[in-house]
Amino acid sequence: MAKPKTSFIKAFEPILIKAWGSYQDNFDDNLLRKTREALSYIRRVYRFKGELGAESPTRIDFRESKNRAGYLAAFGERHAYLAYAHLKRVQAINPTVIPMPDAHGELTVTLVGAGPAIETYGLCLFYNESTHELKRLTLNLIEKVREWQPARELVISGLIKEVLPKVDIFSIPIEADIKEANCVQTFAAHHDSLVSTQILIIYNVLNEIESMYASVVLRNLSYIIRQCEQLLLVLLAEPTALNAWPRIKWIRELLLQYSTVLIDKLNEEIKFSEEPARIALTGLNERLFSRAIEKNPPVFETSLKRVILACQTVPPEPFSSQRYEQLRRLLLKRDRKGRIVKEPVTPVTDYQLPLFS
Ligand SMILES: C[S@@+](CC[C@H](N)C(=O)[O-])C[C@H]1O[C@@H](n2cnc3c(N)ncnc32)[C@H](O)[C@@H]1O
Repeated sequence: MAKPKTSFIKAFEPILIKAWGSYQDNFDDNLLRKTREALSYIRRVYRFKGELGAESPTRIDFRESKNRAGYLAAFGERHAYLAYAHLKRVQAINPTVIPMPDAHGELTVTLVGAGPAIETYGLCLFYNESTHELKRLTLNLIEKVREWQPARELVISGLIKEVLPKVDIFSIPIEADIKEANCVQTFAAHHDSLVSTQILIIYNVLNEIESMYASVVLRNLSYIIRQCEQLLLVLLAEPTALNAWPRIKWIRELLLQYSTVLIDKLNEEIKFSEEPARIALTGLNERLFSRAIEKNPPVFETSLKRVILACQTVPPEPFSSQRYEQLRRLLLKRDRKGRIVKEPVTPVTDYQLPLFS
């Protein structure tokens, strides 16, 4: 890969400042203090273990800038590298299942619970690590909170384009709440783009949806998976907290049953200790997490524990071949007692069969 123009953490600082809605060039002590507080709040909520009175991740209001900034500070760098680490693991198991950009270097990816779409960073890093394979990325961004949009634009223009070789990113925001039954109508309105999905990324979102909605969520996600017109790589990574399990198990079971499973780990630790996905106590990280700067800073974290899944689904045939055979036989000429008079030498082809709705 061409040498990056700058490092992730350097490009990340202005994004985090703007996520607060501030126009400062650098973090001053006041903004650093506010960021540490917001970060600690977000971490506390995500560690929710169901204790009485504890706030649950389902309650975080991402319409508030302090929560978006706290989220980016707490998880931004680790979530940016997650897709890279995930794809590397899949590649080590079976490189042929990784969808390749087409002859023009184009790839279509759908993110569920996109938020700031920070996983795009790891995706571009993976595809362009050795050659400039990915040139144009279409992103379907399924997200219920509209306020993430500006942060997402910053991530794309200020982070990915700053650090990584040029990738034209064409984003399609799909404003939808995947726990709502009418979500399928919104997906249908974006049919043309969703059916082209080659990778479906479900990261850190199911954890935020109450388990009572699990069946609707499953129906909505299955809708996307079933619409896809080509082989689809599904990547799922969700926090492993006990309370998150009922929200993940349905989709996991469905995928285990109907797809080729490549990775199925229930409590995997992903360490970000090696280049190009190494998290170091430098730059903004140092100012946020170092004891040399703040007496009681938040803990500096360089790994993630996740339920990790990767699988490949095959697009369903409109009809199974057995069904075609039944239809073919129905069309054959019969005598008055219903016996087949004569089988044609060349079988009837699919397009000669009547169409079913
Ligand atoms: C923790 S963030 C994850 C963002 C990103 N995927 C990542 O891994 O960093 C979860 C995102 O899912 C969104 N979300 C939560 N529930 C949702 C729902 N029912 N429908 C659509 N988006 C949802 C939240 O608004 C938030 O932006």
